[in-house]
Amino acid sequence: MNIDIRSPLDMHLHLREGEMLARIAPLSSMSFAGGVIMPNLKEPVDTLEKVHGYRKAIEEQCNPDEFTPYMTAFFRCYSAAELQALRSAIIGIKLYPAGITTQSEAGVSDFSGIEETISVMEELQIPLLVHGESNGFVMDREKEFLKIYERLAKNFPKLHIIMEHITTADAVEFMDKYPNISATVTLHHLFITLDDVIGGLMEPDLFCKPIAKTPRDLGALQDAVLSGHPRVMFGSDSAPHPRQKKECCGCAAGIFSAPVALPMLADFFVKRGKPELLQGFVSDIACRRYRLTPVNRTIRLSQQSWRIPELYNGVKPFGAGCEIGWKLAT
Ligand code: NCD
Ligand code: DOR
Ligand code: ZN
Ligand code: ZN
Repeated sequence: MNIDIRSPLDMHLHLREGEMLARIAPLSSMSFAGGVIMPNLKEPVDTLEKVHGYRKAIEEQCNPDEFTPYMTAFFRCYSAAELQALRSAIIGIKLYPAGITTQSEAGVSDFSGIEETISVMEELQIPLLVHGESNGFVMDREKEFLKIYERLAKNFPKLHIIMEHITTADAVEFMDKYPNISATVTLHHLFITLDDVIGGLMEPDLFCKPIAKTPRDLGALQDAVLSGHPRVMFGSDSAPHPRQKKECCGCAAGIFSAPVALPMLADFFVKRGKPELLQGFVSDIACRRYRLTPVNRTIRLSQQSWRIPELYNGVKPFGAGCEIGWKLAT
């Protein structure tokens, strides 16, 4: 049996730069027709010139006829002129609270100072993508950040706000209050809880931000996705790190899932008896919410058992060594 997916999109993707980009970008373009590219490079992507340069570097690794890099800029207080210039080069602007995750030191530390930029973004219809965590206790960070989402959603009702990689039942419940809010859900947050990360021996390869939460939260995310929620879309947050950054003291946050995302999602939707909802989750809902027309490409998955390799070009994937029932047809 096969499943054909029309133009699958990964709406939250870290492709990195330099050697890592060369190693892992082709693994995204094998599965996806496009991806929303995160701007948290060593030097944040926060000028038009940097956006162009980064796009070019990606296009050297992935054929743009097959894979569209939907670029983002790193949020800072941009002038109206800068936003005008950026507008046609990006799909949105990604906001990080300062220091909350990998390479986010240049993020926002004072949320009272951002409204002018955000109001111009609303006017120009530039979506705002957000890593929504406060600096509180690690399990409460997403819930605490809902206050900020609420203020933004209320004050800027025409601004499309995307709650990236939601991990809690509270976030699922909250998003229904405001029609201008969408959310992405990762692969790993549909499979794991905090127990998988630290309940037994510590698993650095399951350590990510936001940290995986409780069984109740896992259930709420799964239910939202399996109900075909019209504003919940797939974003892998695939975030590769070199082995020595994972197997060390001070392990980096990030789970590398791009090469296994579609097969594992197919497994998930089929086992839950909802294969017909996969197309929406990995493409159609994002196309509607962002008004995209992706390159026309069909990716075929075949029902065939295989074992996920321990490494892809030196990077350990989510589910390494596990056997799964769907495989990318080549
Ligand atoms: C996978 C999981 O948790 O679902 N394991 C893992 O990522 N370590 C295994 C799987 O379902 O194939
Ligand atoms: O686990 C994470 N890793 N979460 C993020 O938000 C960023 C990412 C990264 O860039 O490594
Ligand atoms: Zn993030
Ligand atoms: Zn991310």
